[in-house]
Amino acid sequence: MIYAENRRFILETDHTGYAFCVTEGGVLQHLHYGARLPRQEDYLAGPVTFNQPGNALLDADGLCREDLLQEAGTAGWGDLRQPLAELTFSDGGRAADFRFSHFERPENAAPEGLPCALGGQTLKVVLKERSRDIYLELYYTVFEDTDVIARWSRLINDTEETVWVERLMSQQLDLPAGDYDLVTFRGAWAREMDMVRQHLEGQLRWSSAAGVSSNRCNPFAMACRRDACEEHGDVWALNLLYSGDHLGTAEKSAYHQMRLTQGMGPVRWQLEAGASFDSPQAVMSYSPDGFGGISRQMHPFVRRHIVRGYWQDRERPVLVNSWEAIYFKVSHRKVVQLARSAKEIGAELLVLDDGWFTGRTDDSHALGDWTADKKKLPGGLTSLAKEVTALGIDFGLWVEPEMISENSQLFRAHPDWILGHKDQAIGRNQYVLDLTRPEVCQYVVESMKAILGGAEVRYIKWDMNRIIGDSFSPAWPPQRQGEVRHRYVLGLYGILKELTEAFPEVLFESCASGGNRFDLGMLCYMPQVWASDNTDAACRAAIQRGYSYGYPQSVLGCHVSDAPNHQTLRRTPLESRFAMAAMGLLGYELDPGELSADRRGRIRDQITFYKAHRRLFQFGQLYRCPDAEGEQLTMVVSPDGSEAAGVHFAALNRPNPVQKPLYCRGLDGEKIYHLTNRLTEVRMKDFGSLVNYMAPIRIRAGSLVEKVADQVVKLPPDAIDRTASGASFCAAGFYPVQPFGGTGFNEGTRLMKDFDSRLYLWEEEKE
Ligand code: DGJ
Repeated sequence: MIYAENRRFILETDHTGYAFCVTEGGVLQHLHYGARLPRQEDYLAGPVTFNQPGNALLDADGLCREDLLQEAGTAGWGDLRQPLAELTFSDGGRAADFRFSHFERPENAAPEGLPCALGGQTLKVVLKERSRDIYLELYYTVFEDTDVIARWSRLINDTEETVWVERLMSQQLDLPAGDYDLVTFRGAWAREMDMVRQHLEGQLRWSSAAGVSSNRCNPFAMACRRDACEEHGDVWALNLLYSGDHLGTAEKSAYHQMRLTQGMGPVRWQLEAGASFDSPQAVMSYSPDGFGGISRQMHPFVRRHIVRGYWQDRERPVLVNSWEAIYFKVSHRKVVQLARSAKEIGAELLVLDDGWFTGRTDDSHALGDWTADKKKLPGGLTSLAKEVTALGIDFGLWVEPEMISENSQLFRAHPDWILGHKDQAIGRNQYVLDLTRPEVCQYVVESMKAILGGAEVRYIKWDMNRIIGDSFSPAWPPQRQGEVRHRYVLGLYGILKELTEAFPEVLFESCASGGNRFDLGMLCYMPQVWASDNTDAACRAAIQRGYSYGYPQSVLGCHVSDAPNHQTLRRTPLESRFAMAAMGLLGYELDPGELSADRRGRIRDQITFYKAHRRLFQFGQLYRCPDAEGEQLTMVVSPDGSEAAGVHFAALNRPNPVQKPLYCRGLDGEKIYHLTNRLTEVRMKDFGSLVNYMAPIRIRAGSLVEKVADQVVKLPPDAIDRTASGASFCAAGFYPVQPFGGTGFNEGTRLMKDFDSRLYLWEEEKE
């Protein structure tokens, strides 16, 4: 609900309240962002008294902006913190003083050419620069159901002269003097979303200068009070619907207030007379229930208001992806074989990854030439897709349309279509196409339409394997080069809009060497993202946990790959790889046909299990349960509380382990649940020479006898079977089956090897 009266604005969601007012002189003063308060008058600020040390600036109204919580800070009027907007006027001056003009309640308002969250109620507050006809419009959208408020800003130049936008942030959040921490998610290729918590003193930033939202630092961040933790304490989350360079700042002022700002990365935009310039939309959320509380607000928000269209609420197919199975060694025969074995294990979609188009023998060729390689696929995509589909499995395809290889027909025809100078630092042997040019965007759209219109392609993996360094564009004059990086993103969004509208039922998965462009902007067009090229179960436990703070499982592409893992060369149990991947959108990145019949059978069983509980895994409410010494329990609970699943993952095994209960979260306290676990395999050879303690004959580790015995002797897996109330599982926890601790293995012991896991299932007992 939005209340706008007496120059006071209150924005309320189901549980939160956000309030600001207009000071006598017309400055927007922030009042409150936190719990929803019982009465409107509760949001009124107490008396505002300012510190007035000798060297602070006061304006004519007696306001000390350095010590005032505000909605839209600007430079030059005594507020020394990071501004929301910064301009250079035609006379070269930069001091800007925006004061309240009026407000409106628009029905439909969205930043031009940029994605926007669906639904909500919007308030538009218009500020005018005191001595110039320049307007700053602030848009607030309230999503009551998910406790999220979105913001974006527009600058309008109604003067006769050009001005320069040096900065236009999407949101600014000023919080009262206090002691705060900043939590950001940093990383690099194959180690995305590492949670970093820093105490806020001075200024901290979370940003990307990679031309993409990047794995270096995701746009999602949280600020919190120092005592906040997973389950308790005040937390404010911020995120941005944008896929290019971004900048977030957190600052503790000289008066200990905290200012958070977030928006696109550095820009220098020439704002001509009569023109306007929009920031991307940003979102914020407050929870008094720690980081977990924030996740349970952001997840439904992303599912309902960011992801849209045909796939918004649909269960996603289980897929087999060809990349780690065959890499560039694509052939018609191999792909059909892969599809056949994918079908056999129960997968629903076969994705042909990189390597299928003309001349693509390795990663130094052919990007831009989007026709099937006749040597590898003599019948082209049409006949391949037909043959795969006839097997009863959908066909999907990998593309990387924003890129161009020097060694391609496209480059030979249009060497000037690249972004940056020819002589530039190069990534993965490829240049980036200059999407600021309409003719380049048109080429991308047409080549993709030709693929999607010419063959039965049900899924597209849209990859982007480079960051953007030199972004010089010959299409723009020198004084407008500061616009190019943002114009690239606008060009990309234009392409995505056209394609996703033309092919609404195609399932698009965004990818950028894994999670190098995992953001709310891409999610407005593509309902899921390949989370990381790292498929090692142990690494994935950390990476997926990082994503889970701000993003739901329904957008997270997670695959089971071979052992040893191709990124870490680590062997982890097949069941752990499955358990990790099941906590997202399950896929397999291996050739099932190369596996033993036993392994294939196990995978078939995994997929059957996943499909039976798919809605729970993909759309259930996620809980990170209280941690214990490097182990984790993550649970998903169905909306009606009748079913839950949880993955208990342990990194390194230790003898004589401390037995401790696992505490659940999210179960309905009143309901009675039956707890079971998926049975894991216990192999005789896992015991090595220890079997000789029991075996009637001597068995040497690695010998043929051991191999045969391993096939023949079946050891019992551990199985839990417990019934209790949800209240008991949460408050008292449950003890997993007693772990093996060096001696005494029997059917009552749980063998947890390194990187082992257990997948538990709680089902409501109905009378
Ligand atoms: C990077 C992606 O993240 C991988 O999954 C794969 O598609 C390769 N690109 C193909 O080049």
